[in-house]
Amino acid sequence: MHTISIHQFGGLDELIYSKQSRPQPATGEVLIKTAAAGVNPIDWKTCSGGGASSFIGELPFIPGWEFSGVIADPGDTDFKEGEAVFGMIRFPQPAGCYAEYIAAPAEQIARLPDAVDLTTAGGLPTASLTAWQALFDKGDLKAGQQVLILGAAGGVGHLAVQLAKWAGAHVSGTASLRNHEFLAALGCGRAIDYHHQSLSDYTNSMDLIIDCVGGETGIEALPCLKPDGVLVTLPSVTKDQVIAAGTAQRRRVEPIRCEPSAEQLTKIGELVADEHLKLHIGESFPLEKAAEAFALSQSGHVCGKLILTF
Ligand SMILES: NC(=O)c1ccc[n+]([C@@H]2O[C@H](COP(=O)([O-])OP(=O)(O)OC[C@H]3O[C@@H](n4cnc5c(N)ncnc54)[C@H](OP(=O)(O)O)[C@@H]3O)[C@@H](O)[C@H]2O)c1
Repeated sequence: MHTISIHQFGGLDELIYSKQSRPQPATGEVLIKTAAAGVNPIDWKTCSGGGASSFIGELPFIPGWEFSGVIADPGDTDFKEGEAVFGMIRFPQPAGCYAEYIAAPAEQIARLPDAVDLTTAGGLPTASLTAWQALFDKGDLKAGQQVLILGAAGGVGHLAVQLAKWAGAHVSGTASLRNHEFLAALGCGRAIDYHHQSLSDYTNSMDLIIDCVGGETGIEALPCLKPDGVLVTLPSVTKDQVIAAGTAQRRRVEPIRCEPSAEQLTKIGELVADEHLKLHIGESFPLEKAAEAFALSQSGHVCGKLILTF
């Protein structure tokens, strides 16, 4: 099968498109013929020696934690050959999703509704699970509350906007001006151009902030929280800095690590099928062009999600 792999941590030149043997599913696992895999910042961060690289063990490493595809071999599980599935698996341990076949734990994958196409589904799991867990598990978001999404046009952000709106919250989001129409179409009531507008007008007004940017951006947003509000910060590399600033300002900051969840993914699939949630594909690339997709992701200004197709 064709894969993308790295034999040492480093730059984009380390990504190698080559053939390897198919993985062998263990007990409780299925073999999946991959249709699409999403590109997330964690993929290039890990390949460059940051991100989840401390979990990778021996190289070579096949990147990618999310996929869509069809069951090629259900093994000893309840899945049937040919069923369409999607999932985020094994994170932060290696999952090998940038490959034509994937061995996946059955308990971490979900069936894909007929109404959702496989390409879209490949980019959904990580960003939608992160948005869901940040809004509802960490943030305990309720209808009628005020939520601010920092980085609202990105992979996680654009799904968080829609999920917050679906939950009945009032949604504000930061993005470059060129993305404001996009945010309005997603149901974001107020778009803030972070290049030219300060957040000082929103002091003490937010029940929940989802910080998809981290560092100084997250810290600058802390005064926007109501005294009992919470800021959920996503980038792990700056989380300690944002938590320390929160402690100093007596504001609650929660870090997050996205967890696989078949149950939440099933709900997310239903929301997409019912058109309450839509994944925006910024651009898609064939698997062998993974380095181009990584370079675009590294620019930090992707609108929606990048997808690798097989
Ligand atoms: N902890 C976890 O479990 C977890 C899970 C998923 C993601 N993450 C992390 O969360 C972060 C976001 O992930 P993602 O997939 O959403 O990334 P992404 O799609 O690459 O985010 C790109 C977006 O960031 C926006 N942006 C860049 N700088 C900004 C700023 N200063 N203020 C506001 N928006 C800004 C850009 O907006 P404009 O183009 O409009 O400027 C662009 O739309 C990454 O660091 C990722 O590693 C963590």
